[in-house]
Amino acid sequence: MISHEYIEELVRRNDITDIIGRYVQLRHRGRTPTGLCPFHSEKTPSFVVYPETQSFYCFGCGAGGDVITFIKRINNLDYVEAIKYLAAQAGMPMPDEDDQVGRLRSRILAMNKLAARFFYDQLNQDTPQAQQARGYWRGRGLSDATIRRFGLGYAPDSFDGLQNHLRSKGYTTDELMASGLVKRSEKSGRLYDTFRARVMTPIFDLRGNVIAFGGRVLGDEKPKYINSPETLVYKKSKAMFALNVAKKETSRRYILCEGYMDVISLHQAGFPTAVAACGTALTADQVRLLGEYADEVILCYDSDEAGQKATARSLGLFAESPVKVSVLNIPNAKDPDEFIKKFGSSAFERLLNGSSNAIEYKLQKAKADLDITNPAQRAEYLKQAIEILTDHVSPTEQDIYAGRLAEETGVSKQAVLTQLASLQRTKYRRKKRQQQKDLLNEGLASDIRIPYGTMNSQQALGAASAEQYLVVAMVKNPQFIPQVVESVKPEQFLGKEMQSIYQAIVDCSQKQMVPDLTTLAMRLPEEQTNLLAKLLARSYEIPIAQRDVQMYLERIHRTQPQSAQAADMNAQQMEDYLEQIRRKKMGNS
Ligand code: UTP
Ligand code: MN
Repeated sequence: MISHEYIEELVRRNDITDIIGRYVQLRHRGRTPTGLCPFHSEKTPSFVVYPETQSFYCFGCGAGGDVITFIKRINNLDYVEAIKYLAAQAGMPMPDEDDQVGRLRSRILAMNKLAARFFYDQLNQDTPQAQQARGYWRGRGLSDATIRRFGLGYAPDSFDGLQNHLRSKGYTTDELMASGLVKRSEKSGRLYDTFRARVMTPIFDLRGNVIAFGGRVLGDEKPKYINSPETLVYKKSKAMFALNVAKKETSRRYILCEGYMDVISLHQAGFPTAVAACGTALTADQVRLLGEYADEVILCYDSDEAGQKATARSLGLFAESPVKVSVLNIPNAKDPDEFIKKFGSSAFERLLNGSSNAIEYKLQKAKADLDITNPAQRAEYLKQAIEILTDHVSPTEQDIYAGRLAEETGVSKQAVLTQLASLQRTKYRRKKRQQQKDLLNEGLASDIRIPYGTMNSQQALGAASAEQYLVVAMVKNPQFIPQVVESVKPEQFLGKEMQSIYQAIVDCSQKQMVPDLTTLAMRLPEEQTNLLAKLLARSYEIPIAQRDVQMYLERIHRTQPQSAQAADMNAQQMEDYLEQIRRKKMGNS
């Protein structure tokens, strides 16, 4: 049995927004981040995270609970497995194991920090090597302030410079190997520094830890870059270069580039929301991460063929993301870094504000893939273009592009507009239908299950909803618990689910425990945890006062005689009783 204190600590260390943000593209607007529910398929977000109660709830499918419930469901784990998973995430030892992994993780972070410091100091030595490295950064147009701000450095041409430095600070061979800063030669078995004779760029996580490095040769040798291998602290597919800086900006318009150099150059030129993937192609995880901070992402890849391919691929990844994407083609330069050097930052600013246009890009792409002198392919182009123009395109833009399409295809502009309108109606109806379905799932009454026929339905609903509010009141404001427990016994609750949730609250309070969602979830089946999360979500913004509690209590007491009668019966008696009522009703009508 895992102790209550341990679970509390675990939940405290795994912030629900952080954890859920790894699986769900959350939008941070106002107090409650929202996103598309990972447990059912939907197009409009109805999945909400409540940081204050550390809970989540989906208004579409009713899934809800705390961070443990979430991890259980999303990874299909049992309770103990979910605990283990979250413990590893938070670097906590399992109650019975000692925390070797967590310890190693912090040792690696400490080594990385020392290494970054070491590389930076090496850059400022008074040796020919160091002078050359400084010359390299300056030759790329970087100021000393930029070098400092990005913590840029130099790894000297030595097989053990960094290794000896780290050993002198007490790090063991195993630790050095685990950091990826040191490798073992297959031939000689000797250890050597991973980065040698390279200018160094540290990569930070969102909290400002150094998690990896990219090291570039000073000349044209291959490979141009060597990057840290994946380690306990570095997952390439989830890291974003310079996001730790960009996220502090108020602007939510991000510039996504290919290279470290582009990002550094752009920041220096006054575009601090430039970011890049690290040493790999963009991944879905990175797109999700970006979407937490950006409203708009401008793809600003290299102008060569590889860059164009990467652009098309990335546009695909952004298809599911809520951010607005556009594409910036860089004229007369191979990448943003070179463009800024050649034409200056105000030219880049104009480029950014000017033709960045995802519609244009998609239309051109559709057209390039088809031969529009051929009638069949021309029709296909028209069809694809209309599909593109019904997707988040303003009426003005639609009108402009309809005119252009008409010219290109020889179809009248009116005909294009008619087809556009028709497709848009179909899409709109589809969306409405989905919304209606979502709405239906939200009905409060669907959660209330009470012995049928024990009282008139109005009264029953009143009592059942009072039970719900009372439970919410106790979870949100534990100071109400004593007075409720004194006044109502669990058996007096009509709703079966509410009865067992209330029972769990009473149990907790007898053990002097605060019945928060996590504590209750340990004692309740998953459906009831879901239900509780839902109720908490519904009343998130509603303050509950002493007099409300009084009112709920009264309402429950008012409906007691009948329900007491129902609760005392066994199953057979209940059946008979219901049958009796049914007959009575038929006789009356
Ligand atoms: P680029 O070759 O465009 O790099 O590769 P860059 O940063 O603009 O470098 P400069 O301008 O030539 O100095 C884009 C990104 O691809 C990864 C790096 O993350 C680089 O920033 N890359 C490239 C590697 O990981 N290894 C390589 O050998 C080359
Ligand atoms: Mn480049």
